[in-house]
This record gives sequence, C-alpha cells and structure tokens, in this order.
Amino acid sequence: MIIAVDGPAASGKGTLAAGLARHYGLPHLDTGLLYRAVGRAVLGLENAPDFEAQAIAAAQRLDPSDLDPAVLSSQALGNQASRVAVIAEVRAALYAFQRDFALQPGGAVLDGRDIGTRICPDADVKLFIVAEAWARTERRARQFEARGLSVDRQALHAQIEERDRRDRDNPNGGFFPAEDAHLLDTTRLDIEAALRAAVAIVDGAMARKAKQ
Ligand code: DC
Repeated sequence: MIIAVDGPAASGKGTLAAGLARHYGLPHLDTGLLYRAVGRAVLGLENAPDFEAQAIAAAQRLDPSDLDPAVLSSQALGNQASRVAVIAEVRAALYAFQRDFALQPGGAVLDGRDIGTRICPDADVKLFIVAEAWARTERRARQFEARGLSVDRQALHAQIEERDRRDRDNPNGGFFPAEDAHLLDTTRLDIEAALRAAVAIVDGAMARKAKQ
C-alpha cells in the first residue's frame, strides 16, 4: 500500500505520515528532507551567479546519509529548501529516489508537496493536510520552544506565509491537492485526533478499493 501525504509547511503532515507508517507497519520518507539537504549544500550561495547549477549538482550527488532530521529541521533550511525546490532540474534529480522508495515491496508512506500529483499519482490513498496559518505558526513555535529556542511568533508567521507563497507559486508545479486526494483540516485537531481521522480515511479508502 502506498500512502501519499501532502500539505503546506507545518500543517502536521510529517507527524501524521510518521503515525500512519507506524500504524500500518510501513517505511516512511519525509521528502522535505531531500530539498532541505540540497538547500543546506548551497547555503550562503543564494546570490552566486551559479546558484542554480550548484543546487542541481548537489541534488544529483545527494546521499541518503545526508538526510538527518536533527541537522535539517531549522526554519532557515526550510526557507532555503523552498528556494531550491523551484528549480526543475533539482526536482528531476530527486524524483528517482522518491519513486524507488515508494515502490519498495509492501509499499510506503511518503510526505511532501507533490507526492499525490507527481511522485505517486498511482498511490492507493492520498491525503492533503491543511491547517490555518495561525495554527501552523503556533505548532512550529512550540516545536522550537521544546528545543529550548526562543521564538518571535510574528516573524515565524511571516516566514510561513512567505514559504506558502513560494511553494504555491512554484513555476515547476505549484502545489495543490490531487483530484482524488482526501482533504484533512487539522486546525482544531490535536495529534491523536488527526491521526485517528487519517487512519479512518485510509481504512475507508482501502475498503472501497477492495470492493471494486
Ligand atoms: O515539508 P518541509 O517543510 O520539510 O519542506 C521544505 C521545502 O521543500 C518546502 O518549502 C517545499 C519543498 N518541498 C517540495 O518542493 N516538494 C516536496 N515533496 C517536499 C518539500
């Protein structure tokens, strides 16, 4: 079974995808880490004339051992990731790794922006997670505070909106729900309630599929 989980920054898609993977005993890939690792490789080069070429080269030589969430989870790398994510050749270079992960025997859960539309248009179940920007800001702020970091909520909110805009306007694919995606709004749901809702969607979709 392949489960595609897409949604904007801090929508809770990563936590939900990890929870679904545990629930169904499937491997999980957070595809944002790929873009973050490429972004990290070209940090500080934003104004260099060969920024794009460097980002493409970094995507082409990406090593799975570079995908450490502890190293890649900062807000700055999220912003940097959304800059390299607009480059078509970067997306193309990262395609095969994601596709191979999805097609492993038994299936997988992948979360990102374009899993249901481009990486796994054939996924068994597609979820598109949404949450209002204030709720996403609050969640991200609490994650950072739990790590002992101080947070300027207004600045964080502005960064989340800026990243939404860049992701939405991405000339190489602006992110939107697949036609057959199930929308899940987590604005007013805690993690447990959101996971229960996601499991109900997956179970329902698989039961319908079995009857076809
Ligand atoms: O999900 P995240 O915050 O870790 O993603 C970081 C950035 O990477 C996001 O702003 C857009 C980009 N991204 C993408 O373009 N496609 C994906 N499948 C995953 C992430």
